[in-house]
Amino acid sequence: MKFTCGNPNETFALGEKLGRLVQPGDVVLLTGDLGAGKTWFAKGVAKGLGVTEHVSSPTYTIINEYQGRLPFYHMDVYRLSDPDEAYDLGLEEYFYGQGVTLVEWPQRIEDFLPREVMMIDITVTGEEGRELEFTPLGTRYLELLEELKQSAGFRH
Ligand SMILES: Nc1ncnc2c1ncn2[C@@H]1O[C@H](COP(=O)(O)OP(=O)(O)OP(=O)(O)O)[C@@H](O)[C@H]1O
Ligand SMILES: [Mg+2]
Repeated sequence: MKFTCGNPNETFALGEKLGRLVQPGDVVLLTGDLGAGKTWFAKGVAKGLGVTEHVSSPTYTIINEYQGRLPFYHMDVYRLSDPDEAYDLGLEEYFYGQGVTLVEWPQRIEDFLPREVMMIDITVTGEEGRELEFTPLGTRYLELLEELKQSAGFRH
């Protein structure tokens, strides 16, 4: 399922819609090139979750934690190099806890990821054009995608 966003605000708004729908334990993976808009989307998710604190990229901290209507864990694991480092972060506690986890560059921690997740791949289609392709893995995420489509005004 592909969503098109014509500018950063639209990407943020789509993230915000998803943020209103996510439930405890949901995991969202964001792939796409450097500067594709993963963090923009994550900021929208935080807003939709009711996070009022400023959300900044976890480039150097790896994990930033926020509290909205649910805990929100925003990860950017680009800088992780070896599996030991990933293991030391105690990722399971985030993925299998009661918060919502969003991971930028999940390719770096493939072995630690849950099997059921919402995958979102962002493609740059123009200076401000982005295509967000959603791939739901598991029934929970199929349901979440249906809800998002409705919330974004798609009919089928
Ligand atoms: N439609 C769009 N959606 C999102 N960002 C956009 C869009 N059009 C232009 N941009 C610009 O692209 C950049 C996206 O930056 P962002 O930090 O979100 O990327 P990222 O995918 O998180 O990169 P990184 O891999 O470095 O973490 C911003 O400068 C933003 O203004
Ligand atoms: Mg980023």
